[in-house]
Amino acid sequence: MQRITILRPDDWHLHVRDGDVLNDIVPETSKVFHRAVIMPNLVPPVTSLEAAASYRERILAAVPSQHQFQPLMTLYLTQNTSLDLIRAAAKAPHIIGFKLYPAGATTNSAAGVTNVANMAEVFETMSECGVPLLVHGEVTEADVDIFDREKVFIDRYLRHLVEQHSRLKVVLEHITTAEAAQFVMAAREGVAATITPQHLLMNRNDLLVGGVRPHNFCLPVLKRRTHQEALQQAAVSGSSRFFLGTDSAPHSQSNKENACGCAGCYSAPAAIELYAEFFSRMNSLDKLENFASRFGAEFYGLPVNDSKITLVNESWQVPKTVQVAGQTFVPYWAGQELQWRLQI
Ligand code: NCD
Ligand code: ZN
Repeated sequence: MQRITILRPDDWHLHVRDGDVLNDIVPETSKVFHRAVIMPNLVPPVTSLEAAASYRERILAAVPSQHQFQPLMTLYLTQNTSLDLIRAAAKAPHIIGFKLYPAGATTNSAAGVTNVANMAEVFETMSECGVPLLVHGEVTEADVDIFDREKVFIDRYLRHLVEQHSRLKVVLEHITTAEAAQFVMAAREGVAATITPQHLLMNRNDLLVGGVRPHNFCLPVLKRRTHQEALQQAAVSGSSRFFLGTDSAPHSQSNKENACGCAGCYSAPAAIELYAEFFSRMNSLDKLENFASRFGAEFYGLPVNDSKITLVNESWQVPKTVQVAGQTFVPYWAGQELQWRLQI
């Protein structure tokens, strides 16, 4: 196959940061995706409708005039999120859901939820109002090994949450384990998961063998190969419960190549090409369109896009570095080849 044309995709999990960085980062996504779910983990986090509305305006102002792009905003759930805010968010046209970060789980999550088990009223109100819950599914208890944190989160909190609030739409974000894939596959209706390119294309050997590779470090951390294989099978299964969410999470080179390097892979410069690489390696390019352009929209009850994009079978190299707001950033897959190129 020399070229493939698919419906324009959407990114159901994206970090675009703020300020000057945002201006350089948004076009990398808007050049190919029509919509993206914008993560609220700014400093301070996006916890009010007003903050989300002004953040949305700043994102829209960064979209080049030739691109059509719609940011779908999330609100950052805290232990103090009020039921009134949930009811108001349900009526706000540009809010797609609430993001649950267990406090301390990842970058800028310090203000997150400290006690998931105490939030039943909040989740029930979201369920009643039809507001989806987007979950960073990792426990933060210090005694739980970092490689087990997703599985323990599912067993300790998520299974119960999903059953207790039987109409709540739940997205388990950036899944990394066989247990997560199985949980989502077997869960009741209204439960889905996003999968990142790095968790499809890599496992923890790519993080640690031959030296620490900070640009492959993200959270939840890459797991062993058997987990990677389970995610790969979920993505090519054709199940509508699994869809594209890059979790593109830019940090400057100096913040990544650091004694305490930040978590996050900046995949936006090659996002759809990375997924095409994966589906192509799996001989499943015919599954790319549903995964990238249909299942997410259907889950959220939004229309599928009507425009299209074309990828050509032409190898190219992801740049070794890119300049963002006058700083050097190293994109995910930097310096490596990809077999599919976006036709602009
Ligand atoms: C994200 C970031 O940098 O904001 N980092 C990451 O490793 N994925 C936060 C997140 O989604 O966990
Ligand atoms: Zn993220």
